[in-house]
Amino acid sequence: MQFFIDTADVAEIRDLAATGLVDGVTTNPSLVAKSGRDFFEVLAEICDLVPGPVSAEVTATEHRAMLAEGRRLARVADNVVIKVPLTPEGLKACRAFTDEGTKVNVTLCFSPAQALLAAKAGARYISPFIGRLDDISVDGLQLIADVVEIYGAYPAIGTEVLVASVRHPLHVVESAKLGAHVATIPPAVLRAMFKHPLTDKGLAAFLDDWAKTGQKILSDDDAAEPERRSA
Ligand code: G3P
Repeated sequence: MQFFIDTADVAEIRDLAATGLVDGVTTNPSLVAKSGRDFFEVLAEICDLVPGPVSAEVTATEHRAMLAEGRRLARVADNVVIKVPLTPEGLKACRAFTDEGTKVNVTLCFSPAQALLAAKAGARYISPFIGRLDDISVDGLQLIADVVEIYGAYPAIGTEVLVASVRHPLHVVESAKLGAHVATIPPAVLRAMFKHPLTDKGLAAFLDDWAKTGQKILSDDDAAEPERRSA
């Protein structure tokens, strides 16, 4: 499963990209607004930091205007993926972008029927929003199961299931069990995935016991060596 980061916060992306675990990034107009920064500057910085797919969303609602916006966004970097909403106009734009070789992420998917339409429109990614379904007492993970099953029945479908609106690590784990291709994960959720109280407790005990031996694996000089090399 690929991990994308769902944020427009460049500092967060830089920090998490350093873990080597980030395959791509997704943004949306709300996340850009939250960053308080210029969209084009932020997008260029993200594309520089992460070589994988970076989704940038159009804000026009008519397909010709979406195409104009998307073409402008695609000029920012080769790894930009254009995000369009799951509307008839969005899917018209999706088909046109796909035909001209630009990858599209179709967003705001809440039903298997919508996911089928996006696949027929040639989307590279479909983004089912599972957290927002859970919020209205509809099982978001069931949507992932349905879409994975439907796409799996047609090997010609090249659309990848990109699980979005992820709220906690269990969403990621259960989506992985269902075979979803990608999860776009908020930074706090990715950090939470590292955590287990027994890991912290176990590490503390190992370090305590090691300190009692009075030994060191590296001499102080050797330990300083990597810092000297990077200076
Ligand atoms: O990027 C789209 C999606 O992940 C938004 O999530 O938390 O606003 O429902 P959320």
